[in-house]
Amino acid sequence: MSHVLVNVAWPYANGPRHIGHVAGFGVPSDVYARYERMKGNDVLMVSGTDEHGTPILVEAEKEGVTAQELANRYNRVIAKDLCDLGLSYDLFTRTTTGNHEHVVQELFKQCLKNGYIYKGTQKVAISPSTGRTLPDRYIEGECPICHTDGARGDQCDACGNELDPDELINPVSKINGETPRFEETEHYFLDLPALADANLAWLKTRTGWRTNVINFSIGLFKEVKPRAITRDIDWGIPVPVAGWIDNPNKKLYVWFDAVIGYLSASIEWARRQGDPEAWRKWWNDPSCPAYYFMGKDNITFHSQIWPSEMLAYNGQGSKGGEVGEYGPLNMPEQVVASEFMTMEGKKFSSSRGIVIYVKDILSRYPVDAVRYYISVAGPESSDSDFTWAEFVRHNNEELAASWGNLVNRVANLINKNFGEIPVLDEDSMTDEDRALLAETSAAFDEIGGMIERHRQKNALTEAMRVVGDINKYISATEPWKIKDDPARLGTVLHVAAQAVYDANHLLAPFLPHSAQKVYEALGGTGVFSPLPHLEEVEDLDKPGFHYPIITGDYSGAHPWASEPLVAGTPVPKPHPIFAKIPTEAVAEELARFDAELAARKEAEAKRFAEAQAQLKKEAE
Ligand code: MF3
Ligand code: ZN
Repeated sequence: MSHVLVNVAWPYANGPRHIGHVAGFGVPSDVYARYERMKGNDVLMVSGTDEHGTPILVEAEKEGVTAQELANRYNRVIAKDLCDLGLSYDLFTRTTTGNHEHVVQELFKQCLKNGYIYKGTQKVAISPSTGRTLPDRYIEGECPICHTDGARGDQCDACGNELDPDELINPVSKINGETPRFEETEHYFLDLPALADANLAWLKTRTGWRTNVINFSIGLFKEVKPRAITRDIDWGIPVPVAGWIDNPNKKLYVWFDAVIGYLSASIEWARRQGDPEAWRKWWNDPSCPAYYFMGKDNITFHSQIWPSEMLAYNGQGSKGGEVGEYGPLNMPEQVVASEFMTMEGKKFSSSRGIVIYVKDILSRYPVDAVRYYISVAGPESSDSDFTWAEFVRHNNEELAASWGNLVNRVANLINKNFGEIPVLDEDSMTDEDRALLAETSAAFDEIGGMIERHRQKNALTEAMRVVGDINKYISATEPWKIKDDPARLGTVLHVAAQAVYDANHLLAPFLPHSAQKVYEALGGTGVFSPLPHLEEVEDLDKPGFHYPIITGDYSGAHPWASEPLVAGTPVPKPHPIFAKIPTEAVAEELARFDAELAARKEAEAKRFAEAQAQLKKEAE
């Protein structure tokens, strides 16, 4: 048994998450963790909500609440959504815990001591009309690198490069269209150039990464500049330096703190287990691989910023240094980044605010239908498009017709003819029977290998091909026609049930909710595929601060192997596990989209007009 760390990108707590988000970081990380647990490995899977920085502040202002209130609200919403999706976090926490603040400050201090953090000045954008600093991502302009319009002050979505707002050509405020003015202020910087050699050398040892991810990551090192890791903002983790720690208007940059969440969440998990050092097996043992799951807009932070922070903490950059109390910290094994998911051929896009929220789709459709669609048609290694027509088709043709009917048919025939798993009579076995069982057994290594290489789409397609072959076996053997040879009938149904049982193992990482039901349909009792739950906890360091966590006991997962069915196990009369979605749902969902798009356009036009009127009034 080995240890495996599954680190999942931290969603911003500035609104509910949509299907594109969970297709990028959510379902793939869960499929992977479930597979590794079935392989018998000791998985630690952590994440939480990302609650600092301007994304939270700006939304709080819009909603007229404090940043902490906003974070509290969406932390709760997001934790519930991710739990309802069945994502099996050992701990899903948040970045406003006392524990996280402590761990972040410890990393900052050690990096400072090692000389990789230093003080300098940086130009910041000020809104001339309010005199307040303008958040990076609320400044827009031409990208200085690829020259696309509409690049944000923190990043250009077109070329993926990180930017500083004063680098933008013709910068304007997204809030009211005015041109910001730039002023020099004091900040702390992460000395990325002093870490670049070690960071790049590590990247060059990586194998098996998706081509676009490794190429993009290596490309980041063409030009490396120090990066400001503090901001002129009143919401964030205090900078642990005398003269700064109490300054209400200087805080750590949200990305500096967020990536440390993987470590702090692991520590929180260990503390909550009552074994405060338990996290070290996943962070200090170089043989424990760490997989990081995210959308492609997060690659920079996981291939460069976080590795450089760890190298600085470990004292492994060009300036040397000492390792801090948490180290030495393991570098990522792989940054598993997915591409983007568009909505209905870009007609409805996230940038236009037209999305499908997780809670909405889960309120109308079965959770495994959603997981299935994401797994079979998600943006694994190229952009993909969500369409309602395809969602309904995949559910109806593949889940309901092919897999659901198979399970139902086999369970029904067994229940009717035997009431229990029949005996496999070796003497009446044919080549056809043996071939099917050989195929389903061999599928474990084959499909497992695909999941290990992060080719989940291939893996699921292959599992469904096995399901197709079991269906063919049933059509060929026609068990309903075997009238007066109970031994042969028993053998055929035993073989079919065993093959279905094997296929259910193969599908379990993707479809944990229905896998449990299929297991029970074949007479299984107890846990087959464990599910997470929400738990209300009190902060370990800030008494009175309560929040929900996602956690669970996942030790009951069945192994990733063919487990022989036991003849004589009672098989109940089955209930259908998958249902078809009426095709009218497609038109209904599209009409919902259209209505939302119209409402959104109207609201946006109104908001912009109001901001401009305000600006005009102030000018007079
Ligand atoms: N909140 C970021 C986003 O949604 C992701 C942060 S990942 C972390 O893009 F590791 F930095 F936390
Ligand atoms: Zn660009």
